[in-house]
Amino acid sequence: DTLISKIDVDNIDMEEIKKQAEILKAGDTVIFPTETVYGLGANALDEKAVSKIYEAKGRPSDNPLIVHIGDKKQIYNLVCDVPAKAEIVMEKFWPGPITIILKKKDIIPERTSGGLDTVAIRMPSNKIASALINEANIPIAAPSANISGRPSPTRGIHVYEQMNHRVSGIIMGNDCVYGLESTVLDLTGDIPTILRPGSITKEQLEKEIGYVQLDAALAKKEDNIKAKAPGMKYTHYSPNADVYIVDGEQSKVINKINQLTEENNAKNLKTCIICLKSNEKHYIGKTICLGETLDDVASNLFDALIQADKEKCDIIYSESFTNEGIGCAIMNRLLKSAGYKIINA
Ligand code: TXA
Ligand code: MG
Repeated sequence: DTLISKIDVDNIDMEEIKKQAEILKAGDTVIFPTETVYGLGANALDEKAVSKIYEAKGRPSDNPLIVHIGDKKQIYNLVCDVPAKAEIVMEKFWPGPITIILKKKDIIPERTSGGLDTVAIRMPSNKIASALINEANIPIAAPSANISGRPSPTRGIHVYEQMNHRVSGIIMGNDCVYGLESTVLDLTGDIPTILRPGSITKEQLEKEIGYVQLDAALAKKEDNIKAKAPGMKYTHYSPNADVYIVDGEQSKVINKINQLTEENNAKNLKTCIICLKSNEKHYIGKTICLGETLDDVASNLFDALIQADKEKCDIIYSESFTNEGIGCAIMNRLLKSAGYKIINA
């Protein structure tokens, strides 16, 4: 059965952390909060333990996992070489929401790296995550703790509802501060390349390490180009409802969504509108608010998609956001969840 621990980040119960760390040491799976999204963890150096992650998520096993460490120094045991730019990124942004890809040492099993000769490493800043990893004293492979294809969990209740009985342990902690998965930065080539945008932006990285490029696959509808981060090619972040992004001038977006909502009502289709708080009053249908700032939007987006499912709605319309800064990560996730369907208002 699943051991459930409720832990508050401001008053960490080390007895509960120890119990969950024992589960990890025994080669089983534990879900834990991080500052980005909840992760589904297991011993990264144990193939059998890692297999249990894929099983619990129902995920294709060619998808490589991020290895989480509790101390920067551990990276030297896991990768062949740490280039100067990696040292800078680790120094400036770790612990925090960025993952770096480097050539792996043999100690990392193929199961963890998805058969690649590289490995993704991240040191999370969430205090529950680091307490757990340090207590277990092993590197922890952890993808987002959702069933494959579904929105990533950012609240304790999301993992409890989706994953109870699918894993050996669950730590229900606080809401995730950032709410979108970490930036994935490939440092194996000549030019640092963002494979997945996240809260640490291209602009922030360029201040520290110079020119950074976005993987070409990010600009296009997936599938067109072979995505370098294998996980980027699958259906992602999809609620049951059909999602559309409505783009254009604000007043036109509002009119368009209201018109479509009326048409759906006539057809008995339940509609949910995902919007900024300040726009809520203009809509005639059921709304789910994302807050007001781009940081709010990032931290509430997956919760909004999960809420829309709970409402059993058939169609979701979302407002569109800027592509600048963290907007790049927001629009990346939103476009995927919409299957790239955009309505121009
Ligand atoms: O914020 C996060 O990164 C969360 C939390 C739990 O830390 N984890 C997470 O893991 O999002 P996951 O497995 O859902 O996403 C990992 C991403 C995938 O897109 C995967 O393809 C890519 O990182 N990735 C992992 N290892 C890679 C590698 N060696 N080369 C290229 N891409 C890699
Ligand atoms: Mg994921």
